Amino acid sequence: MEKKNKQSEPSFYVNFEKVYARNIDSNISLLNFLRHNCKFTGTKEGCSEGDCGACSVLIFDEKGSLAPVNSCILKVGQIIDKNIVTIEGASKLSSAKPLIQALNSEAASQCGFCTPGFVMAALALKEKHKSPSESVIHDSLSGNLCRCTGYRPIVNGIQSLKEKIKFPMPINSKGLKLKTAIFGKTTYIYPDSKKELIEFISKEKNYTVLSGGTDWNLEAEDSNFKEQKILFLNNIKEMSTIKTKTSSFEIGACVTLSKFEELCREFFSPFLDTIIRFGSPQIRTAATVGGNLGTSSPIGDLAPLFFVLEAELSLLGPKGERTIPIKDFFKGYRKNALKRNELIYKVKVPKTKKEDSIFSWKLSKRYDQDISTLSLAAKLKMDKNHTIEHIILSAGGVGPTPLLLDKTSKLLKDSNLRFNQNSLITALNHDISPISDLRGTAKYRSAAMVGLIKKMQRSAISGEQQHSIMSI
Ligand SMILES: Cc1cc2nc3c(=O)[nH]c(=O)nc-3n(C[C@H](O)[C@H](O)[C@H](O)COP(=O)(O)OP(=O)(O)OC[C@H]3O[C@@H](n4cnc5c(N)ncnc54)[C@H](O)[C@@H]3O)c2cc1C
Ligand code: FES
Ligand code: FES
Repeated sequence: MEKKNKQSEPSFYVNFEKVYARNIDSNISLLNFLRHNCKFTGTKEGCSEGDCGACSVLIFDEKGSLAPVNSCILKVGQIIDKNIVTIEGASKLSSAKPLIQALNSEAASQCGFCTPGFVMAALALKEKHKSPSESVIHDSLSGNLCRCTGYRPIVNGIQSLKEKIKFPMPINSKGLKLKTAIFGKTTYIYPDSKKELIEFISKEKNYTVLSGGTDWNLEAEDSNFKEQKILFLNNIKEMSTIKTKTSSFEIGACVTLSKFEELCREFFSPFLDTIIRFGSPQIRTAATVGGNLGTSSPIGDLAPLFFVLEAELSLLGPKGERTIPIKDFFKGYRKNALKRNELIYKVKVPKTKKEDSIFSWKLSKRYDQDISTLSLAAKLKMDKNHTIEHIILSAGGVGPTPLLLDKTSKLLKDSNLRFNQNSLITALNHDISPISDLRGTAKYRSAAMVGLIKKMQRSAISGEQQHSIMSI
């Protein structure tokens, strides 16, 4: 690797300086690279699973905006040409010093293990907000755990600083973009156009599709022992952008949850209840829409939302694109309609109409940073006498796949939301088949689903989404 032409070597930027990903003999995480290869040991390892935020660093996107990300579940192969800032780099920036001083003044650190991660999350917040509300601060810290200080001094420290933090612009990597990079037995392939993508999937058979890696990188612990090819999708611009059409949005499969959150803030705001509880800000920086559907998990948070929006998936294979309704995508527990060498290219989401109401709820063991035990999404059209013209209900966590609740929707429509509990239970029993697992018993899931439907009924009648799980 040392003797190669520097331009063809994988590299990225750490604290505004170029680093070459040399002498890497495995599919190493960014965290291990920073600590062992760069000796930036300020970034800490806590859980190694994306749950604690000790390993948070900042990453710049293509527009120069920065966000926190968990370096423990990000592989070096995923950040080629990107700009990363660690606590070492941040502490040298004069613009970041007031925040660090504010945290010091509030005694917002004891053992200090979590502190670099908190500083990273707080810097990303203060880059966007001059004076964020307490709830915005809490959301921005939801991916960071502290076992000794307690959160009050940390929140106070952030609140005491009444100015935005300005970061230098990231370094723009010019010149030849890498097409492949090898880390030990793992080869990354980097198509940057649909044409290159089709060329690759037309000739290769054995490879793994990778996007944010927040799911696959956790499963891939022993991947260093076998040869593998990773088809990294995120450099394809069309797959990473949201196109607004007259009556729909085309969401590229590599659009991150953070970008999707922005779209929801503007056009699907009732879904924010679910989206701002999708992992943490660090997870949402990396996790993608296509990756979420690609896991085909029955508790993936996006499927029920897309079901009720009647989204269509554009699937790309060697022969080009084909479109299917999302209701035909999930075929069984973690099984989907993708054929060999096909991948999710885009999600086409119709805009909601003025007269449509949409709702979503997520129940999980922990409020923040937890995957769903079950979830419910709804879209309905109702006149002022509460006559339902149209209703779609979809649920996660109550069957082997995300589900459409057809029988229950029919009951709600036919009764104009004036159903009795027994008929609701009968209809739900037809639609759902919950199981007991670590997150909840089948009995709990059935009972909680009855509660969510009643919450939906009350929300539809009042016109306001009922949030609190105590409000039934
Ligand atoms: C701490 C933590 C919290 C989480 N919280 C939540 C949560 O609250 N809600 C939730 O739903 N999920 C959650 N997840 C799971 C995960 O973050 C999401 O499923 C995420 O959307 C996956 O996207 P990704 O881009 O990271 O996928 P990747 O890990 O890159 O890929 C996931 C799978 O999908 C396949 N894939 C990726 N892109 C495509 C594509 N375009 N076409 C076909 N297949 C594809 C991959 O081959 C792989 O099998 C959490 C994960 C962690 C670690
Ligand atoms: S070490 Fe805990 S999130 Fe990375
Ligand atoms: S200060 Fe010790 S873990 Fe937070």
